[in-house]
Order: sequence, then C-alpha cells, then structure tokens
Amino acid sequence: MAKPKDLMKEITALSKRRGFIFQSSEIYGGVASTYDYGPLGIELKRNVKELWWREMVQLRPDIEGIDSAIIMHPHVWVASGHVDEFVDPLIECKQCHHRFKADELENLEQCPDCGTKESFTEPRLFHLMFQTFMGPIQSEDNIAYLRPETAQGIYVNFENVRTPARQKVPFGIAQIGKAFRNEITPGNFTFRTREFEQMEMQFFVHPDEAQKWFEHWKDQRRAWYMALGFKMENLHFHDHDKLAHYAQAAVDIEYDFPFGRSELEGIHNRGDFDLSRHQEHSGKSMEYFDPATEERYIPYIIETSGGVDRCILALLIDAYEEEPEGDDPNKTRTVLKFHPKIAPVKVGIFPLVKRDGMPEIAREIEAELRKHFMVFYDDGGSIGRRYRRQDEAGTPFCVTVDGQTTEDRTVTIRERDTMVQVRVNIDDIPKMVREYTENWERNKGL
Ligand code: GAP
Repeated sequence: MAKPKDLMKEITALSKRRGFIFQSSEIYGGVASTYDYGPLGIELKRNVKELWWREMVQLRPDIEGIDSAIIMHPHVWVASGHVDEFVDPLIECKQCHHRFKADELENLEQCPDCGTKESFTEPRLFHLMFQTFMGPIQSEDNIAYLRPETAQGIYVNFENVRTPARQKVPFGIAQIGKAFRNEITPGNFTFRTREFEQMEMQFFVHPDEAQKWFEHWKDQRRAWYMALGFKMENLHFHDHDKLAHYAQAAVDIEYDFPFGRSELEGIHNRGDFDLSRHQEHSGKSMEYFDPATEERYIPYIIETSGGVDRCILALLIDAYEEEPEGDDPNKTRTVLKFHPKIAPVKVGIFPLVKRDGMPEIAREIEAELRKHFMVFYDDGGSIGRRYRRQDEAGTPFCVTVDGQTTEDRTVTIRERDTMVQVRVNIDDIPKMVREYTENWERNKGL
C-alpha cells in the first residue's frame, strides 16, 4: 500500500477534484489559508463531530453540552490572559519579506527561504486575536474579539450549566465551534488556518483528583482516535516540558503528517487558573460547594482540546492509498480507506447500462437506501470508472444493478478495500452495510 511522494499535493488535488475541501472565494483568487468544505467534506466533518458529540456528551452522564457565542465580553479575554499573552514574536526577512515566528526558527542568523544572512528585523510582538467593534462606533471602548478558543465560553458558564443540569463535581462541559486566530504562519493546507473549528471538553474536578482524571482523559482520547480508524503507529503522545501559562501538565496527541509530526489535540491539567481568573475579574464566585464533604473550593480543570479541521486532514492522509490496479503495473487506483462509519457516502449505486429497466430499479434502490445512509447514484461512464470515483471518495460499498437484477432482484455489492463482489438480495443491503460497518476493522473486506 503506497503513498505518493508529494502526498500533500495529492491530497489537496483530490480534495478539490472530489469536493472535499477547496480554496475559499476561489473565483476571486482565493483568501490565503481559508478553505470551504464541499459536499463530501461536510459529510466527513459532520460524521466526525457527531461521533465526538455522541462519545463525549450523549453516552456520558457526567458531561453536558453547550453552544456559546463567538463574541464574548472583552473582559473574558483579559481574564483568560489572551489580551496580554496571546502574541507571537514576528520577524521579517528584509530581503525576501517572508515572515516567521521567531521562536520557531532554529537559526536566526540566516533566512531559511532566501538564504540571506543577518537579514531579519527585530522581533515584534504580533497579536493573534481578531479584533472588531461592537455597534456603530469604532472606538477603544467598543472593541470586541472573535474567540480564539471555545474553552472560555465553557468556563464563564460553569454555574449556568451545572445548576440546571444538577451536576456535581467531577463533571464536564463540551462544545464544538469555530475559533479564529490571526496566525502569522498559516499553511500546510488546512493544518493551520485563521478560521477553524475546535472540539473542546473541560472536566471540572477536585484538585486532589486532577492527576487521576488527566490519565483518564489521555486513555479516553487515545481510544477515540483508534475507533475513528486511525493507524495507531501514526499517532503519538508527547508530554510537554514547556507549559503554557495556564497549564500544570500537558500532553499533545500528535500525528505523523507528511510535513512532520504535529499536534492534533492537547490534553491539559489547567489547575484552578481559569475559574480563579474569572472569579477575580468578574467578582462572581466560581467556587464549588461539595454538600457531601462540606468543602468549598475552586475546581481544577482537565481539558481535551482538538481541532476538527486537523482531524479531517489527518484522516484524509491516513486513509489515502495508491494501489496497483489489476495486472498492469502502470495502472494504479487511488482509494481513501476511511472507516465506513465516517465515510461521507456509504453506498454508490450504479445501473450497469442505461436501459432494460436497470436505471429504474437503481433509482428505486437509491430512494430506499437514502432513508438509511448517504448514497450516490451514478450512471456516467464505464462501471470501472464509476468504481474508481467512489474509491477516491472513500465510499465503502458500491451496488450494481445488472441484467440478473431484473429477473431475481439481486445485485452485486462490492467492497472498496478488497474489491470483492458478492451477490445479495436488494432487501438485504441496509442490514449488510450496517453489519459490515459495525464489525469493520482496517483492511477487512467482505
Ligand atoms: N483551549 C486550548 C486550546 O485552544 P490549542 O493547542 O491552542 O489549545 C487546540 O488548540 C487545538 O485546536 C489544536 O490541537 C489544533 O487541533 C486546533 N488548532 C489550533 N490552532 C489552529 C489553527 N490555526 N488552525 C487549525 N487548527 C488549530
């Protein structure tokens, strides 16, 4: 199973070709590092977010969901430390005018792009929060920020959620939503963008139990990535020795991207930093009273913070394979070997030819299967071509209506990874697809 040399280029091209992800505002020349998700991309994204929500919120009695506003009170960002601390040291090469984060360069003596020596400007602190104004008057008093993380919407609502949900510590609050950062060095397709989505969960615990819960969440998050179908040899847990201003312990879940091992998700023990700061700045108590022990304390927070877009990019990379097609060594097929549960389309439906009653039966099957799954009807081009298009879309099953179907209502169903085809009764397709999805393990076919 081979990956091409320039995998990022192939992934970018396939994403555009098949309608997963493409440049935003493309007809105007695009906006740097801003992307739109097309019909397949949005299905893949929704599937991942729904699995996360199910796992985090719906299956756990101790986690509640929330959807907080993107624009929050500006004092939130003072309390959180973002107004003072969310800056990057920016340097620019005076020769080629490329900009870099000073702390990411190994050698500050020479520009890595044009090779000019001693060409950098002095580092200048660059703020990463997007700033706007609330209301018609654009003045200092009306400054508002687009949130750079979803987490703060959870902290400030600790009591608003806990009380009506009748939760007791330990418990958590989860949120999926957009975040914005005016990154100096966006790039690598959707890896680092200025607008992105996060899946964050903040778990409130007694300080003495923080380490235990930190370990619990490390295990949970590993299991989640495994269940998404990731090849586990490509995932790594990296303990941080350099901690962010709010963290007491941190581990990054990293993925082996083609451009290097990089962060997918962070798990942090944030101590009582967040609630203490909001208590201090808002004047409202953030303490929790434990009725069982009669103890009053500010809970510690264990955070799991993942990027939706990074997860999607990693899934595309992980699933991408090029394989020899048949006996001809010059022919290859490109296939996205997604776990069927995240695949954007579950079943492709093809009439073998556009006559003899086959399209009618195929449309009938499409209408029936649509009640159960995302499906795609295709009657264009040779059957081989239609299979290849679905392979590139990561569709796990393709159903073909042929001459025999008109006689006995059976069809062939072909599995994407093994390309094995079996004949089944039309009525059995939903059950079969469901059973294979439930029992699927990487590279297992029909
Ligand atoms: N609340 C903690 C927090 O926001 P972070 O490590 O700054 O922590 C968490 O961000 C996750 O959000 C990252 O692991 C990454 O997946 C995603 N993320 C952060 N910045 C991003 C960007 N510019 N583009 C895409 N994803 C980003």
